[in-house]
Amino acid sequence: MAKHATPKLDQLESGPWPSFVSDIKQEAESRTKNPKGLDYQIPVDCPSDLLGVLELSYTDGETHWKHGGIVGVFGYGGGVIGRYCDQPEMFPGVAHFHTVRINQPAAKYYSTDFLRQICDMWDLRGSGLTNMHGSTGDIVLLGTQTAQLEEIFHEITHKMNTDLGGSGSNLRTPESCLGSSRCEYACYDAQDLCYNLTMEFQDELHRPAFPYKFKFKFDACPNGCVAAIARSDFAVIGTWKDDIRIDQAAVKAYVGGEFKPNAGAHAGRDWGKFDIVEEVVKRCPTKCMTWTGSELRINNKECTRCMHCINTMPRACRIGNERGASILLGAKAPVLDGAQMGSLLVPFIEVSEPYDEIKDLIGKIWDWWMEEGKNRERIGETMKRLSFQKLLEVTGIEAMPQHVCEPRHNPYMFFKEEEVPGGWNRDIAAYRKRHLR
Ligand code: HEM
Ligand code: SF4
Ligand code: SF4
Repeated sequence: MAKHATPKLDQLESGPWPSFVSDIKQEAESRTKNPKGLDYQIPVDCPSDLLGVLELSYTDGETHWKHGGIVGVFGYGGGVIGRYCDQPEMFPGVAHFHTVRINQPAAKYYSTDFLRQICDMWDLRGSGLTNMHGSTGDIVLLGTQTAQLEEIFHEITHKMNTDLGGSGSNLRTPESCLGSSRCEYACYDAQDLCYNLTMEFQDELHRPAFPYKFKFKFDACPNGCVAAIARSDFAVIGTWKDDIRIDQAAVKAYVGGEFKPNAGAHAGRDWGKFDIVEEVVKRCPTKCMTWTGSELRINNKECTRCMHCINTMPRACRIGNERGASILLGAKAPVLDGAQMGSLLVPFIEVSEPYDEIKDLIGKIWDWWMEEGKNRERIGETMKRLSFQKLLEVTGIEAMPQHVCEPRHNPYMFFKEEEVPGGWNRDIAAYRKRHLR
């Protein structure tokens, strides 16, 4: 018998999609039975009370968590999101319901052994509920009490060699696409760069020292499988600068119907026979491709490396051999002054260990923003307020046409005094000698 009646939530157990309600109920039942005879460190009925408070929220149409919550572990300024129920007497199992962010391995490859260790620890010291994973990337352990935080931290660091993730006005947990681990489009080792920078900037991740949050994300090609351009202040997106490698025999195999376009991604519907002109050549945004009837040609000088032809004919078109990445800065969600995606800062940068050039660039950006950024102002907003020009100055990057989608159309241009012959100091009397009032 469930602890609380949950008629609304019960409806979410029907339908084909895996039901979070059924799963939480299963965990609630398992804790009640306690097959391993654990000495649960937080209330056994924590998951039942979570369902109870959620049902109440469904009825009221409003949240039942109190505002905020400041908890954590000694030495760190973030990593745990404190949370208290606003009906603790009705739902004592979730009176405390803190979330612990655990730093995940880049691209989220696991061994069952590691996951079992996390689960064993969490069964004992937490609710048994998780989020795999938070949008930023962390393993999210959902729901425990304050007294357990240091215990959890001790166990993950001492037994699992694993650290907390980030929260607060700091560097948050970085994440990458799966990169060269299993994608032939990868232009650099996104996981390695992600891991390397995570380790390099542990201090910035664990102890908030910034005006506001700052995120890194790493896509190994422009397809953007980790959405770096939209979800990270500092986005590294792989690309190449030589020619797309074309295997003409494989192109013919696509034209002949032997290879499926887009690796069969549209196989669920009849789109007719593959038409290389309609589906590739005419879709190229720069119109830099030609199909002679027997040969595919690309004018690589005009190719913007959008990935379309490679995505459509992965067995015939390959990324170039001179690889690196672009760096885009400033993506953020709407609050305060509107949503932003990353703006191109570095068109091409070599990406190889020990990644000094990238670290150097990050250092210059942080030096500027940490001094000039206003309280709770994302770097994207600092860029708007103090200008892209200022960003170029502090990073020592020369302005180039690639920095803009289009030039300005308003004429409110600022000149530096030293650029203007004679400077700004003018004498009105000298002017009046030539122009009477
Ligand atoms: C009843 C119609 C309009 C009224 C009352 C009006 C009024 C004004 C006023 C008061 C100014 C400011 C002038 C100044 O401060 O120097 C102005 C500027 C301007 N108007 Fe209009 N306007 C009208 C129609 C239009 C139309 C139809 C256009 C374009 C198709 C236009 C284009 C402009 C432009 C470009 C300026 C800026 C000029 C500058 O200062 O560089 N206006 N207008
Ligand atoms: S972003 Fe590109 S390289 Fe990374 S997984 Fe996606 S398609 Fe592959
Ligand atoms: S990558 Fe994009 S721009 Fe370049 S040739 Fe292919 S379709 Fe055209």
